[in-house]
Amino acid sequence: MPEHVLCTARDSARDPAAAGGGAGARSPHGGSPHAHSPHPEDGELGAVLVGAEELQRRVRELGEEISRDYAGRRLLCVGVLKGAVLFLSDLMRFIDIPVEVDFMAVASYGSATDSSGVVRILKDLDTAIEGREVLIVEDIVDSGLTLQYLLRNLGSRDPESLEVCALLRKPSRSKVDLRARYVGFEIPDTFVVGYGLDYAERYRNLPYVAALAR
Ligand code: IMP
Ligand code: MG
Repeated sequence: MPEHVLCTARDSARDPAAAGGGAGARSPHGGSPHAHSPHPEDGELGAVLVGAEELQRRVRELGEEISRDYAGRRLLCVGVLKGAVLFLSDLMRFIDIPVEVDFMAVASYGSATDSSGVVRILKDLDTAIEGREVLIVEDIVDSGLTLQYLLRNLGSRDPESLEVCALLRKPSRSKVDLRARYVGFEIPDTFVVGYGLDYAERYRNLPYVAALAR
């Protein structure tokens, strides 16, 4: 696959494929690749799929879109720990309507890079969501099994509305028909790290999203 089609910014309001700003393999900050990487020595990182500036630009767009869509309503963002932490904290800065935040932590049984869909709740919400406008904020939709579980679980608690905002999605990996109202970028079927996403708990602190070279 040519590097310039590595990922696509997804405009959730319009044609998914039409939005510009697709990122290619590039430097995270405009300099040489990984020049500012916290892990420059280990050689595990591959191409940068979404650079730091492009992430911030798209997260701002998503925040503005969410602010318009939920204007006049009281939004509750539910961040899925741990991967969504960086995304949620940046996203909230671009939401200019009243917003509350809560967190869930889930573990999905499976291998290091494949989830099974059998999900265990490690930390549940602090608050009841009955009658609330709930937006699940997730790092990535891979098979979609984890989110499918969360949608069923939270949906059974009678929220007023329940939507999904995912930073990344791998359409080719999808195992379930899952509707995510907001998606930041569609990426190819490659394991990625950075901006909250980990491999064996590492690399969450990278300010960009990169493939793992393994
Ligand atoms: P799913 O249930 O297959 O959709 O996987 C969901 C979870 O698996 C995500 O919330 C991530 O924690 C993890 N995951 C899936 N793909 C990746 C990846 O490329 N990098 C890091 N974590 C991933
Ligand atoms: Mg996750």
